[in-house]
Amino acid sequence: MQPIKWNEEFKIDIKEIDEQHKVILEIFNQIVASVEKKNEWQATSSIVDSLIHHAYRHFATEERYMIKHQYPGLPVHIDQHLDFIKKVTMLTQEVKEKGPDKQKEMIAYLAKWYYDHVLVIDKKYSHYLDIEEKR
Ligand SMILES: [Fe+2]
Ligand SMILES: [Fe+2]
Repeated sequence: MQPIKWNEEFKIDIKEIDEQHKVILEIFNQIVASVEKKNEWQATSSIVDSLIHHAYRHFATEERYMIKHQYPGLPVHIDQHLDFIKKVTMLTQEVKEKGPDKQKEMIAYLAKWYYDHVLVIDKKYSHYLDIEEKR
């Protein structure tokens, strides 16, 4: 799999969130590179841990914005964040049990998640937020 390049389309125009999305994309690309190099799972898995760590922080930031603006889609959005954490945790376990084939499945899931999360799910709340946040 090729790395994903950051592009303007990913911007949701809230600086703090865009910065976090960039960091998450960088970590994702490190995972892809590590899988492509066929590194030991231990090495890749520490990058996946870092992804989960940053995702937690990022989700908390987003949820704060959504609460502040009383975004009606908040409960659904929180569920989507939890689903991500659950799915990555499950895939991590599967990779440990079933080996390298599952690593490919994991990066395919992460790539699809990134596009969905930023371009679809996050854009929705971004459109709802007050313009004051977008400077
Ligand atoms: Fe996000
Ligand atoms: Fe989100």
